[in-house]
Amino acid sequence: MPAPYDDLPSEPEEIFGRILDWKRRGPDLVRLYHQLRAVAPVWQAPVARLGNPWVITRYADATSLVRNSSLVKDERVLGLSGIGKGGTYMKVLGRMFAFQPPPRHTLMRSLVNRAFTPRSVEALRPRVQALVDALIDSLEERGQMDLVPDFAFRVPVTVICQMLGAPVEDVPKISQWASTFSRRADEGEELTPEMERTGDEAAEDFVAYVKELLDDRRAKPKDDLVSRLLEVQRDTEDLSDDDIAATTILLFQAGHETTANMIAKGTLALLRHPEELAKLRAHPELMENGTEELLRYDTSVQLSTKFATEEIPHCDRVIRVGDPVTLLWGAINRDPDRYEDPDRLDLSRADIDHYSFGMGAHFCLGASLARLEIRHAIGTLAQRLPGLRLATDAVEYKPHLHLHGLATLPVAW
Ligand code: HEM
Repeated sequence: MPAPYDDLPSEPEEIFGRILDWKRRGPDLVRLYHQLRAVAPVWQAPVARLGNPWVITRYADATSLVRNSSLVKDERVLGLSGIGKGGTYMKVLGRMFAFQPPPRHTLMRSLVNRAFTPRSVEALRPRVQALVDALIDSLEERGQMDLVPDFAFRVPVTVICQMLGAPVEDVPKISQWASTFSRRADEGEELTPEMERTGDEAAEDFVAYVKELLDDRRAKPKDDLVSRLLEVQRDTEDLSDDDIAATTILLFQAGHETTANMIAKGTLALLRHPEELAKLRAHPELMENGTEELLRYDTSVQLSTKFATEEIPHCDRVIRVGDPVTLLWGAINRDPDRYEDPDRLDLSRADIDHYSFGMGAHFCLGASLARLEIRHAIGTLAQRLPGLRLATDAVEYKPHLHLHGLATLPVAW
């Protein structure tokens, strides 16, 4: 297919290079996705630090690969993204179940999943609503805020800390460690010695912090996830404190920045589409479908990488055993062959089946929690601050691609 945009490069290597480089992609990320899908829909990127991955941008390709159980995610992903070797950071990541093969992955996931059943998440609804209301109460008089730190982060970070059992006063330091972690793991930036050092330091501090929390809960169990994991530990030989620490850190990580970025980007999408925002204000019930549309429109996890365990013939090409396959969720969700007018935000869009929470065995464990938080945070903001508007035209993104989010979002009302 011819490249749709004359002002963007038409060579896949150059397009992908721009997608990875935040300074060069600027506000063009989605147009670059469309350009790449048009010129090289199933393409092996010659990017050695990422293991020369196959890059997938079409919805139909992702769906057929999803159905093919020959794609797995395991610790090889850690060796690929150029995030370094050795050190505490890599040790902690290596123990996270998200990067382990079965049966370890299956076991750890099922233990943690008990806290994320639809019923236990549903039970959080009044607490999440009360938290959002209290936050807006405290901000309302100000008439302005930077929505990223003042609102979007505060909702999920408070919820995940409460679930895990960490005191809310510790949120700033936990957020700092979590952000150092995600920076080092990002495909979009090449590792520097400074990132390597700060990643290891953050990992050491984070583990020491969680181990203190474990000691505390061992002495005085509470109704939180850390206490429940300690309970499981008593009956399981193969669950060390280091495993629990890594799992806890994974949940802090996965459970807040993703959702915070989504709340901020979802609000931005609505502020840029005043007609949709007005529709939502008039029909608050639209927020349920609207949450799915906002996730499709601009997801906060732009990609996942998996590995072929068998040769996969696909579209006249052959994905070989061991080849990484990078699914660009942000591009897949905007495929015009799947969604009519994909760049239009339409809160009433029918038949949304996005891949923003990934797929298969590693499908996002916190999807129902994330949906709940987004729905209440954005839905309440829309109702309670009717004059909400952007206080700037220039929107600033963070450098990350994998965890894609805004650096700031000044708003006023
Ligand atoms: C809008 C918010 C969120 C988005 C867009 C998101 C997206 C994703 C994606 C794409 C994956 C990888 C799936 C794959 O490789 O196929 C994932 C995994 C995961 N997510 Fe989320 N997530 C969000 C919120 C959350 C929350 C609130 C939690 C709760 C703690 C969470 C916990 C996890 C965990 C533990 C995994 C690893 C699952 C595994 O490997 O088995 N996520 N998420």
